[in-house]
Amino acid sequence: MVTIGFDKCPDEVYKRFEGRHIISIRDFDRQDIECIISNALSMAELLKKDHRQARHLLEGQRMGVIFYEPSTRTVLSFETAMELLGGSVSGIKDPKVSSAVKGETLADTIRVMAGYFYDFFVIRHYDEGSVRRASEHSRYPANNMNEGKTIPAINGGDGSNQHPTQTVCTDMPTVVKHFGTLDGLVYLFNNDLKNGRTVHSFVEGLMLCKPKKLYFCSPTQLRTPENILRECAAHGIAFEQIPRYEDALPEVDVFYDTRPQLEREQLPDDLKGKIRAVYTVRADEIRSKAKKEMIILHPLPRDSKFNSPEYAVDSLPQARYFEQSHMGVAGRAGLLCLLKGVRL
Ligand code: NCD
Repeated sequence: MVTIGFDKCPDEVYKRFEGRHIISIRDFDRQDIECIISNALSMAELLKKDHRQARHLLEGQRMGVIFYEPSTRTVLSFETAMELLGGSVSGIKDPKVSSAVKGETLADTIRVMAGYFYDFFVIRHYDEGSVRRASEHSRYPANNMNEGKTIPAINGGDGSNQHPTQTVCTDMPTVVKHFGTLDGLVYLFNNDLKNGRTVHSFVEGLMLCKPKKLYFCSPTQLRTPENILRECAAHGIAFEQIPRYEDALPEVDVFYDTRPQLEREQLPDDLKGKIRAVYTVRADEIRSKAKKEMIILHPLPRDSKFNSPEYAVDSLPQARYFEQSHMGVAGRAGLLCLLKGVRL
């Protein structure tokens, strides 16, 4: 595990990113994630000072978005990032009005759009592995002066599998902003750990770190996939599956809550009731048991039917999920610069 820190990414690590697809956390090493996080934090500072300063960084570049599943934060933070960098965005955000309804595959769509002078693609699709397969066709064709070079394809979420930019552009930079590190911390993942791709990416990213301990708290029906638990064990990472988050709360530094993904799995009513009763992050528990410095993250959206974290948690000092969602713009803008070799 060779570390470079979060201050400034060395040129040789920066160079690895030019033209690279961003598909899975498993494609990264520790230096890669540190480099992306350092760019996220530098970009956050630059945008905070004066977001208009970023306008020249990717002037004239074009982003194609292809979203076949609903999205608010991922698509809008990528679009906002691209606009702030001086680029433009177009694409498909409602598959019902695209040729997907006529049976076109994602690969064919990419082959066509590759010839429409896009410089990036951001893709969200319901099939696991689909973005990787589509990325094989993400290359400038003969009508472009860059013929043969790759057009970076970014996975904005493929089914329950992976959501790498949520981890490296949003979640991890928020942790580093607060603790200055990803190592030596106690992380707790709560609720739907089976279907939550943001959890899968984050936990796999932590394989490149030295967390003190990972807690997984979920109903048995929504447990963390076995392959991820096996990987934790193989990396010598201490972890425990617990029935109630309250028991671990006093030790936790990063509390990562999630939403039960009813669109991926039908849950019986009694289980829904149990989720509300047991897994909802409650303000009184946080007040009485959590460390003051603990941070509560959530990829959002919060489903108002499950109400977790409770709305009363929003005003506690530990609540960082809106700040986390705002980091998504800086993190993605930083990543886009990295993919085009633009130094901040
Ligand atoms: C998540 C997603 O789409 O995977 N949201 C996000 O991208 N911020 C989590 C979810 O849908 O619950």
